[in-house]
Amino acid sequence: MHLWIFTFLIIAAVLFVFKLSYVLCTAVVLPATHGALYVSTSRVRISAFLDAVPMKAGQLLVDIGCGDGRVLRQVGRRYGVRTVGYELNLLAYVKAKLLCFGRKNIQIKLGNFWHADLSEADVVFCYLFPDVMRDLGGKLKSDLKPGAVVVSCNFDLPGFIPERILRPGNSLHNDPIYIYHF
Ligand SMILES: C[S@@+](CC[C@H](N)C(=O)[O-])C[C@H]1O[C@@H](n2cnc3c(N)ncnc32)[C@H](O)[C@@H]1O
Repeated sequence: MHLWIFTFLIIAAVLFVFKLSYVLCTAVVLPATHGALYVSTSRVRISAFLDAVPMKAGQLLVDIGCGDGRVLRQVGRRYGVRTVGYELNLLAYVKAKLLCFGRKNIQIKLGNFWHADLSEADVVFCYLFPDVMRDLGGKLKSDLKPGAVVVSCNFDLPGFIPERILRPGNSLHNDPIYIYHF
């Protein structure tokens, strides 16, 4: 067999296994994530909310459903603050652990954020789906300290009035980003 055919088959097999594990890992946690799939927020959108929500040394940002940890890395690079991510999807969790390896200010936890105590968070970031947002306000209200900021990509928190709604102004990444002060 020609080397290039062999290389093509190997690449196709690796991609297939990767896609299959994405589907399996997503399907297994679907009842708990209520449809919030593992999709990453674009860097443009992360930059937009970081411009609007400055953080100081010693503060903590928690990403409830951190995917591959992209938000945590970008926040760490910009402000050098401590970050924690919760993730249920095993594939996303493993990717986050690998990509964040060696970064002391980032902690990735395999688990359900509904069981987490968010009382230490200064900023909570989320990119979840409407079914989750419907109930999330109650948890945030009971967990968060006064003055904490909640940033929600794409979907609002029903029953809460956002202090700002950002539109990054980029034609591909212009969905709203809601910012709430608790
Ligand atoms: C749309 S992705 C966002 C990923 C990341 N926050 C970002 O913006 O790049 C939502 C993630 O939340 C995770 N998730 C949903 N419900 C969760 C829960 N109850 N506990 C932990 N993770 C959850 C999903 O597995 C998924 O990876």
